[in-house]
Amino acid sequence: MAQQEDQFKRVISHAKEYGYIFQSSEIYDGLSAVYDYAQNGVELKKNIRDYWWKAMVQMHENIVGLDASILMHPTTWKASGHVDAFNDPLIDNKDSKKRYRADVLIEDYCAKIEAKITKEIAKASKRFGETFDKEQYVATNPRVIGYQEKINMIVSRMARALELEDLADVKLLIEELGIADPLTGSKNWTDVKQFNLMFGTQLGASADNSMEVYLRPETAQGIFVNFLNVQKTGRMKIPFGIAQTGKAFRNEIVARQFIFRMREFEQMEMQFFVKPGTQKKWYEHWKEKRLQWHLSLGLGKENYRFHDHDKLAHYADAAADIEFRFPFGFKELEGIHSRTDFDLKAHEEYSGKKLHYFDHEENKNYTPYVVETSIGLDRMFLAVFSNSLVEESLENNTKRTVLKLPAVLAPTKAAILPLVKKDGLPEIAREIVEDLKWDFPIFYDEKDAVGKRYRRQDAVGTPFCITVDHDTIEDQTVTIRHRDSMKQERVLISDLKEIIKKEVGFKSWLMKI
Ligand code: GAP
Repeated sequence: MAQQEDQFKRVISHAKEYGYIFQSSEIYDGLSAVYDYAQNGVELKKNIRDYWWKAMVQMHENIVGLDASILMHPTTWKASGHVDAFNDPLIDNKDSKKRYRADVLIEDYCAKIEAKITKEIAKASKRFGETFDKEQYVATNPRVIGYQEKINMIVSRMARALELEDLADVKLLIEELGIADPLTGSKNWTDVKQFNLMFGTQLGASADNSMEVYLRPETAQGIFVNFLNVQKTGRMKIPFGIAQTGKAFRNEIVARQFIFRMREFEQMEMQFFVKPGTQKKWYEHWKEKRLQWHLSLGLGKENYRFHDHDKLAHYADAAADIEFRFPFGFKELEGIHSRTDFDLKAHEEYSGKKLHYFDHEENKNYTPYVVETSIGLDRMFLAVFSNSLVEESLENNTKRTVLKLPAVLAPTKAAILPLVKKDGLPEIAREIVEDLKWDFPIFYDEKDAVGKRYRRQDAVGTPFCITVDHDTIEDQTVTIRHRDSMKQERVLISDLKEIIKKEVGFKSWLMKI
């Protein structure tokens, strides 16, 4: 646990020190759960967004993009259910005055029981060695069965209470389990209350004419209200998708864990419109496809898992999260939701406009069903960044900090380094920069000894360092150093473009899907 916390602290301070993420309005002591992306962060974020856009939009003939506005007609949020149901169940601790999400307190309690199961399994695996059969052990060991039954009981009771809006029972469950304030240990709780997460603002200048609007809490509704516009102007045939990336806003109460839970964040969402009755097939399809997209980045298969929802949102008939192993444990990274025809039907009802599709093959009209994939760009950033940051012990008893970002996402692809600041080497290095910068983001550095410059690029995540030395003048070759292996090769300047392209181009990465 302490090790996880240390790694998380390292991630946060590295993100600041190397120009990835700053706290918003830092000179005024910051604004809670709001962050700014710095010179390297903005490039990494853009590359993640582009990688998603390439895979989801440009690689699919039947998926198109959209950029809907953040402000929408307020009835949108009535129809979507956000005005009435976009709430978190909150509970305050009377002693510490701290506010918590009641469901998160209960989930954290279950996570502790789950940790006990993991510990039992690890102990047994050590005891039985190679003959250990995990599945059989989990199915038969009385202690593990007891723990699992307790988790199931808690989760289903919480799901039922939330479903029925029985907030008194949620409080009772917290009390019965003896859950204490994680910061102070106090068990002196208030009642559980619902709190709406949307930010409201005024549209229009005068008090008489102004209209209360909301900053969108998800990008999805911009897609639903444009469904017919896109379908007709793009002559789209079902099944087809509409994708967009953009800011979303939520007045999160428990806004902790750096950029994991923010009040202003960015989503990358795709709504896939399908024939009613085929949603299950497409739901499974997109679950698999999205996992493959994640795996293509090489962050390690063992760092992902699916979590199927017990408690479904008001619009869904199936839902799952792709969870990632963040420095603070497995948490939701992306959601895949089978949203039925809830949204289109609701917008029809509230707007009075038909949102039907005429299926020529079936010769009939229907309201399409929707399967959604929804990922937080900032969360994806945190997954990539935290997974890539490593401390390595080297053979000569020194250490290096290296940010092993997937090369396709790295902000700068290569640093060009003249060995010394004289003898015409900077001029040759500058010529290489001038040539390569048309194709890749390139960095030039001539300060300090070359070893120190390598370390700086390792820490910032640059996949290649290219050093110009005195031999370059004679034979037009340079040394190319690979960040992860630290291997160095001598190559012709004229081959650089191809070598870099092979490692950083979208194609070689996305081909793995
Ligand atoms: N349109 C469906 C929707 O918005 P969601 O599960 O509420 O579903 C989707 O959000 C994704 O957006 C999450 O999986 C997460 O990655 C990201 N997300 C949600 N709230 C966030 C927050 N406060 N800060 C950062 N990312 C967030």
